[in-house]
Amino acid sequence: MRSLALLSALACLVPATAKGQAPPDRLARMVDEGAARLLPKIVAWRRDIHEHPELSNREVRTGRLVAEHLTRLGLEVRSGVAKTGVVGVLRGGKPGPVVALRADMDALPVTELVDLPFKSVVKTEYNGQQVGVMHACGHDNHVAILMGVAELLAGMKADIPGTVKFIFQPAEEGAPQGEEGGAGVMIREGALENPAPGAIFGLHVWPDPVGTVTYRSGPFMAASDWLYVTVRGKQTHGAQPWGGVDPIVVASQIVLGLQTIASRQVKVTQVPAIITVGMIQGGNRGNIIPDSVIMQGTVRTFDETMRTDIKERIRRTAESIAASAGATATVSFGSGANPVTYNDPALTEKMLPTLRRVLGDANVRSGELSTPAEDFALYQQKVPGLFFFLGVVPKDRDPKTAPPNHSPYFFADEAALPSGVRVMANLALDWLQAGARAPR
Ligand code: NI
Repeated sequence: MRSLALLSALACLVPATAKGQAPPDRLARMVDEGAARLLPKIVAWRRDIHEHPELSNREVRTGRLVAEHLTRLGLEVRSGVAKTGVVGVLRGGKPGPVVALRADMDALPVTELVDLPFKSVVKTEYNGQQVGVMHACGHDNHVAILMGVAELLAGMKADIPGTVKFIFQPAEEGAPQGEEGGAGVMIREGALENPAPGAIFGLHVWPDPVGTVTYRSGPFMAASDWLYVTVRGKQTHGAQPWGGVDPIVVASQIVLGLQTIASRQVKVTQVPAIITVGMIQGGNRGNIIPDSVIMQGTVRTFDETMRTDIKERIRRTAESIAASAGATATVSFGSGANPVTYNDPALTEKMLPTLRRVLGDANVRSGELSTPAEDFALYQQKVPGLFFFLGVVPKDRDPKTAPPNHSPYFFADEAALPSGVRVMANLALDWLQAGARAPR
C-alpha cells in the first residue's frame, strides 16, 4: 500500500508540459527535480501529521514541527503567531518582490473511519464532549506540501529573485467558543507585514480528480455569516393559545419567510445566495406553548453588497413577522464570519499559464461557485490572492461519489502531493520572476 501509493505519486512527476507551450525554464526544472527528490519526506510528514491531528487553536505539535523545519532550513521564523501559527521568511539571493504562500493546519472533531495504516485514533474534549479528531478537511496535506515547498525553495535560494513568505495558519475551521483565531488574528499579529507580500497563493485539497486544479476568477467560495434569531412570545397552555403569544408558530413563519429572500428578493441571475436555518430549539412539553424559541443558521453569499443587503432583509423579515404576531425577534450574526474568497482577476489571468504549464491544460479547470467558505478570503482583502482546489480523488474512483471534505471517510490520494508542491513553488517563482523583470 505504502510503496504503491508512492509509485503512483512519482508517476505524476512526468513533465506535464502540454503541446504548444513554452518548455519550463531552469527554475521550473529545478522544482520538478526537487519535488521528486523530496517526495518521500513530504509523504512521511503528511502521514505523521495525519496520525496526530489537532483541533483549531490547539495545533501545538504541528506548529512545532513546522517551526523546527523552517528553522533548520535557515528561514527567519516567527512562531506563536495567532497562538500556534508560524511565519517563515526566505530571502532569495537576487532582488525582487515578496510573495506569500499559505497553509492551514487544523483538524476537525470527526472520528476517522478510513482504514489507513496512519489512521487517526486521537480523541479529545470539544464543547464538553469526547470526540475523535481527524484531518477530515485534508489540512495535513496543505502543511506537508508547504513544508516541502519551503525545503525545495530554500535549496534554490541563490536563484530566487525576491522573498518568499510561508504562512502556516491555525484555526481555519473557526476558533473554539469564546476564543479568536485563524487568518484574521494572523493578519492582526503581523503575518502580512515585514515584509509585506504583493501576492498570496493558497490551495485546498478537494474531491476532484487527482492532480487537477480547479480555480475561478473573481468570486470563488462563499462569504459565510452565522445567523442567530431569538423569538420571544408569551408562555401559555397549549390548549389556550389566545392566552399568550406562540413563538413556535412565529419561528416557523420566520423560517419560511427567510427562504423568500433568496428566492424572491435578490437577483438570482447575478449570483446565488443561501439562507439555512439549521437549528431550532424551544419548548419542553407538547401542551405548553413556550416563552421563547432560539434558531441558528448560516448565510452564504458571493457578493459583498448582496451580503450586506441580505443581512438587512433577514433582520427586517424576522422582526416584522414577529411584530405581526405580537412577538419580538432579535437577530444577530455573531463572530466567525468570512468574506467572499475573491480571486483577483488580473492575478488569476497572469498565473493561469503557470498552472497550465505545470499540470497540463487538461488538468486545469475553471470551476463553479463553491458554497463552503474559507478564511483565506481575509488575506485576499489585503493582498491580491489566488486560491484554488487540488484534486485528491484516486484515479479509480468517481469524484461525484467520493466522500466530501469533513466526512469521516474523506480520503486524499498522496499522488496529489507532488502536484501541490510543483504548483505552489512554480506560482511563487513565476510571480517573483515577473515582478523582478518589471520596471520599477
Ligand atoms: Ni478546509
